[in-house]
Amino acid sequence: MIKLLLPAALAVLAGIASAQAQTFPTRPGTVIVPFAAGGPADITGRLAAEIFSKAFGQQFVVENIGGAGGATGTTRAARAAPDGYTLALGHMGTHAAAVALTPNLAYKPDTDFEPIGLMSTQPVILATRKGFPANSLKEFVTYAKANQSKLNMAHAGIGSVSHTTCLLMHHEIGIKTTMVPFTGTAPVLNAMLGEQVDYVCDPILGPAGHIRAGTLKGLAIATDKRHALLPDVPTSAEGGLPGWQAAPFYAIFAPKGTPQAVIDRLSDALDKGLDDETVRKRLSDLGAVITEKKDRGPKPLAAMVKSEMDRLIPILKSAATQ
Ligand code: MLT
Repeated sequence: MIKLLLPAALAVLAGIASAQAQTFPTRPGTVIVPFAAGGPADITGRLAAEIFSKAFGQQFVVENIGGAGGATGTTRAARAAPDGYTLALGHMGTHAAAVALTPNLAYKPDTDFEPIGLMSTQPVILATRKGFPANSLKEFVTYAKANQSKLNMAHAGIGSVSHTTCLLMHHEIGIKTTMVPFTGTAPVLNAMLGEQVDYVCDPILGPAGHIRAGTLKGLAIATDKRHALLPDVPTSAEGGLPGWQAAPFYAIFAPKGTPQAVIDRLSDALDKGLDDETVRKRLSDLGAVITEKKDRGPKPLAAMVKSEMDRLIPILKSAATQ
């Protein structure tokens, strides 16, 4: 008898889950940003939360859970109930580089999450405090080679974008400097404004305003073309370091096991939100490159996570041990 009832009961439960997914969301949700407020990850995560709030008429709020280069907040998201009410902002650091650099990482970027969609890429800038002796990437290389032991590179924790991309730059130059961890690059920039640390490799959303205002120096952008927002900042190739290229991806993830209908609703809302002219203007005014329509959605994000893991893990393991 029990054997006969079981399939019927499972079918009823599946029906309830599917009906719940169709009406999702019926209450507020959270976007975990695994870094301090005010930095590129936070700005992007807040925009995603706004997109979901507007699309669903339910408030999605940002919760900043910094620490361990993004691993603390990302682990919390991986372990959250897979119901679509807890999402995570993830990027090249949390969802690729961390695998190479974070000991005992408690989640697997490619199997513990349901990808929702890519939002943008954000070119990385080498920015220094105003009083730093070098005024160009070439001068930076010369100065850093001669003063390695005195220099402080600040970053948002092991495995973060700011840590990883500076590590790759150090590898290209052949230097090792002191690395100072913070919970995000917003506090790093404050420390640089106070001349307490020397330099950072931060996505353009972070330092661009300070560089334009002349309170920090932008020595190079790690892309093959200059950026319209900072036309005076030369590319890494112009500065003699063509191998240093970095434009990390920013994306939204849900915990593994989130119902497909909920994933579809979130992914569709994010896609439409990125078509909104106000959202587009805000992101591009900050220097982000909005992901093209064909590259949005769960499948391109899953492919991005895999290809970035394949690309970065071997290089970073070797860069970290040299
Ligand atoms: C931030 O948003 O605070 C940082 O850019 C994070 C990072 O470096 O990965």
